Amino acid sequence: MESVPNVQELVRNDPLQVPESFLIGNEEEEDKLQSTADKYNPSSEIPIIDLSLLSRGSEEELHKLDKACEEWGFFQVINHGVATEVLQEMKDATAKFFELPLEEKNKIRMPPDDFQGYGRAYAVTQGQTLDWSDALFLSIYPTQYRRPNLWPTAPEGFKETIEAYSSGVKRIRDELLRCLSSTLGMEKDALLNLHQEVIQVLRANYYPPCKMPDKVLGLSPHSDTSTITILMQEDNVTGLQIRKEGEWVPVKPIPNAFVVNVGDVMEIWSNGKYRSIEHRAVTTESKSRISYASFILPHAEVEVEPFGHIVELSGSQKYKKVKYGDYLGSSLKKGKLKGKSHIETA
Ligand code: SIN
Ligand code: FE2
Repeated sequence: MESVPNVQELVRNDPLQVPESFLIGNEEEEDKLQSTADKYNPSSEIPIIDLSLLSRGSEEELHKLDKACEEWGFFQVINHGVATEVLQEMKDATAKFFELPLEEKNKIRMPPDDFQGYGRAYAVTQGQTLDWSDALFLSIYPTQYRRPNLWPTAPEGFKETIEAYSSGVKRIRDELLRCLSSTLGMEKDALLNLHQEVIQVLRANYYPPCKMPDKVLGLSPHSDTSTITILMQEDNVTGLQIRKEGEWVPVKPIPNAFVVNVGDVMEIWSNGKYRSIEHRAVTTESKSRISYASFILPHAEVEVEPFGHIVELSGSQKYKKVKYGDYLGSSLKKGKLKGKSHIETA
């Protein structure tokens, strides 16, 4: 593993320079150009789910959720009940954190043998093109997995802010997992129980502006190894794109909404009924962007395999059984994520 420059610091030192190690190859560049920004009106197409309707037991909304996971693997959640102030405080405090001098942030620098702390989103192996982003990664729930010495001490009150934000996300997570148990034909707590322990980790991604936005990627194409991911975006900078029918579709922010996507675990459990979709983040020339991803994962010992009742209906088992810890380990070992994770088919 090589040491990777801090991207924010590169831009601070020389906003015009983009080191070669960040430049994407021709193939990736061509792929990058296939963005459908002009053709689509994506915000009206990515399904919008009203969580307050789900909480009140709306069958119609449940059906919409089912279709969203099947046809898009992505949806936006509105009326989720997390106060706007909590979201805003999280955005303000995180922005202040990233603005701190590097020495200050490096006090909680990610150790080589850990994924928590301030550093990069993924391990990087020799020769890989680097992503134009830095990250703050924290294990949130269950609380015993926290590494308090890797939690930020500045700005003041940031810890409490992260706590309030994450407990809001936890409520959404539990409600969605209950609803998805129903749409998959199981009793309400089935998915929660199947996790053995529902793990929630937070990654705040910081994408500095880049003078050559077409030559770099904020985050390379990947699918998430989670059960589901619950993401907050900024209201006024678009950066997230999802692959839909071979083209890149931007996810336009809806103020105060969360973007939720199906991860690989859900794809395996549902035997491919729900899809873990490839996505990426692009940068802009003049504006930085921060996104806040809460990954929901099962315990490492959980054996993930397609549900029998779904396999029976579809006629064949599409994925092999895999222990979650092994699955996660093998996708992390590959270094920077590239394309859709390798889900082994049966
Ligand atoms: C992610 O895929 O984790 C983040 C995408 C984004 O920045 O919107
Ligand atoms: Fe992701």
